[in-house]
Amino acid sequence: MSNLDGAGDGTRAVHAGLPEAVVGQPFLPGPVFAAPYHLDPVAGPGLNGYGRPDNPTRRALEAAIGEMEGGHVLAFASGQAAITGLLLAVLRAGDTVALPADGYFTVRAFAEATLRDLGVETILVPTAGPYPAFDGVRLVLLETPANPGLDVCDVRAVAAAAHAAGALVAVDNTAATPLGQRPLDLGADLTVASGTKALTGHSDVLLGYLATSDADLLTRLTTWRAQTGGVPGAFDCWLAHRSIATLDLRLARQTENAAAVAALLRERPGVTGVRWPGLPDDPSYAVASAQMRRIPGIVSFDLGTAERVARFLTASALIFAATSFGGVHTTADRRAQWGDDTSPGFVRLSCGIEDAADLIADLTAALDQT
Ligand SMILES: Cc1ncc(COP(=O)(O)O)c(C=O)c1O
Repeated sequence: MSNLDGAGDGTRAVHAGLPEAVVGQPFLPGPVFAAPYHLDPVAGPGLNGYGRPDNPTRRALEAAIGEMEGGHVLAFASGQAAITGLLLAVLRAGDTVALPADGYFTVRAFAEATLRDLGVETILVPTAGPYPAFDGVRLVLLETPANPGLDVCDVRAVAAAAHAAGALVAVDNTAATPLGQRPLDLGADLTVASGTKALTGHSDVLLGYLATSDADLLTRLTTWRAQTGGVPGAFDCWLAHRSIATLDLRLARQTENAAAVAALLRERPGVTGVRWPGLPDDPSYAVASAQMRRIPGIVSFDLGTAERVARFLTASALIFAATSFGGVHTTADRRAQWGDDTSPGFVRLSCGIEDAADLIADLTAALDQT
């Protein structure tokens, strides 16, 4: 909504994508469940013809995310649907794609199998750099902060170098969310993200999206999605839109909790490799604090062995053993159990919105028993 230009994050999150007020109508219209719609018998297809390309609940969610990312948004059934959609829509045999060496591992797995079989070469680049010259690269995908190691990169600098070499740049904005950083403003051609995590934040929805301000890319990706069909259902779109209203509040509490948790973990014997980009001596701190508006509530650390992680998770009363991150419940995940390239005792802890004092007490008690 144009009258929200310059408004604060809380105001933007609450009002994002809402229709004009109509007396007697809800603030956020309920989900529209439809496969086909009534057509005009004479004119044929209009705004809504068939549910795969057209759904008003999905369009409202896309408008909401688009207002926050600062571009046009296409929603997908999951983050992976959005990322693989981007890769398959843009890359052709003979192309090279640069992917984060330390980003979400399923993207690398997809590249190393499906993309390779299609004749697309992959180069892996650590998020913290050094970055190559990108000559001959068609697409550079960045993930910052990277999941799960939490390194960050300077999007403006990498985008400038990639553009000079003729490459497109996409940024996975899953961990940061559009309230944490707006990759399109930092020079990226595309933002891609899983909305399953902090954006929706209630651990009840799978969602992905792509955002761009480039009309040609938007047309290409819209056609790709309509033809391949990986769209989210109306109810999930509505749940996601409803959840976005509290994004500002949820992120604020998660960041506050992560600061307390990281400070505690740093002081604990038997806990090594604590990473949180908000710690002033973290390797990500300088770039993150210059580039990001908020630091996500994700902290990573190492307990040394799988057995110690199991004892820690069993002893904790508040921290759920679960994968994913960004939800209202604090969760912890031993990433190696999923095949991620991390040491056996590496833990990604995602702070929820519980009270910091309770989390700290629980974490302390659990570590005492670990
Ligand atoms: C950084 C990142 N991107 C993309 C994805 C994929 O998202 P989804 O699980 O919604 O398919 C994930 C999932 O963990 C992720 O962490």
